[in-house]
Amino acid sequence: MAAPGENLRINPDRLWDSLMEMAKIGPGIAGGNNRQTLTDEDGEGRHLFKRWCDAAGLVTGVDEMGTMFARREGTDPDALPVYVGSHLDTQPTGGKYDGVLGVLGGLEIVRTLNDLGIRTKHPIVVTNWTNEEGARFAPAMLASGVFAGVLTQDYAYSRKDKAGKVFGEELARIGWKGDEKVGARKMKAFFELHIEQGPILEDEGIDIGVVTHGQGLKWLEVRLTGKEAHTGSTPMPKRRNAGLGMARVIELVHEVAMDYQPDAVGAVGHMEAYPNSRNIIAGRTVFTVDIRSPDKATLDEMDLRIREGISTICEALDISFEIEQVGHFDPVTFDEGCVKAIRDAATRLGYTHRNIVSGAGHDACWINRVAPTAMVMCPCVDGLSHNEAEEISKEWAAAGADVLFHAVVETAEIVG
Ligand code: GLV
Ligand code: MN
Ligand code: MN
Repeated sequence: MAAPGENLRINPDRLWDSLMEMAKIGPGIAGGNNRQTLTDEDGEGRHLFKRWCDAAGLVTGVDEMGTMFARREGTDPDALPVYVGSHLDTQPTGGKYDGVLGVLGGLEIVRTLNDLGIRTKHPIVVTNWTNEEGARFAPAMLASGVFAGVLTQDYAYSRKDKAGKVFGEELARIGWKGDEKVGARKMKAFFELHIEQGPILEDEGIDIGVVTHGQGLKWLEVRLTGKEAHTGSTPMPKRRNAGLGMARVIELVHEVAMDYQPDAVGAVGHMEAYPNSRNIIAGRTVFTVDIRSPDKATLDEMDLRIREGISTICEALDISFEIEQVGHFDPVTFDEGCVKAIRDAATRLGYTHRNIVSGAGHDACWINRVAPTAMVMCPCVDGLSHNEAEEISKEWAAAGADVLFHAVVETAEIVG
């Protein structure tokens, strides 16, 4: 027997056109996007999304973290809503789809339901989480972290970017600080569609990733202090070279991650050397360590080894160090029922699918703590993401959105 709404499909052209329209805001320098959180461009992207939500008849609320919630009413307004969404902010050299596909895929579901005149018992709420990327203000997934009660709002408001600008002030400046208490909303479920950001689905020619787990992550900010001195006249044994310290830590992070293959990863992504002059030995370096693993014990062991290694390296070089943890979440197991809804949807629609572990962090990883949650992934070309050249096909986007559509509608229950 046909499942309810078995033949339902979203409109691939409309979804694609919306993705391309959003990508015009905050264009990058190489075909992608620079729409970092709480910039004017982020504000502009939010206005465009709000206009689309208004046109679809949705009622938008904004919470004190700036997260946007656009609600399509259900036939039972007291029934807990089904939430769907992701983020519209990007990396400084980001792609057009990381996050955006999940928000606009959610909007496309609602537009399709409107086209077909389909009502659901449970309301459906399309969500744009503030500061998923964590590129401008660490940590990543800041608003969803506050929503889930893992981070405090005061902590979030106090985060600073490289220029010293403060999150709470920037949120007010762009005009998107709402009045809703963060985390007050209760969810029947949360679903997030995202590009894979890795190569597995494309390499295996598979349409859909059914995300069962997300790997855990730790972000450290490391500050090394040595002594600025002349590169020509300072004898080698007398140097206190913070640049050399950073180089050794970069090597250490790589080696530690290599010791826990095949799953663990680690890298230093952000690096600063002071005063950054060709004939001055770097007296100070500031850099970030990003380590990840699907296994909590492994992640903790990697963290410990890196901290001990930094201490040994600094002692040998006669430099001092500070280590600040600026991001952390444990590995995530998504809700069995929501994962099943996604797997069943992919099967029903005839898409090839496999289970997959998310390598990246997502708002779903935090929301999983307060509501039944799952994610659906579609391939991306060469597994490339956090790069302006990030690319997907219209067909991949449509398949992902169709699976999302079926999982959401099944959970929200079609009426009649
Ligand atoms: C978020 O984009 C992450 O770094 O995984
Ligand atoms: Mn993302
Ligand atoms: Mn990202």
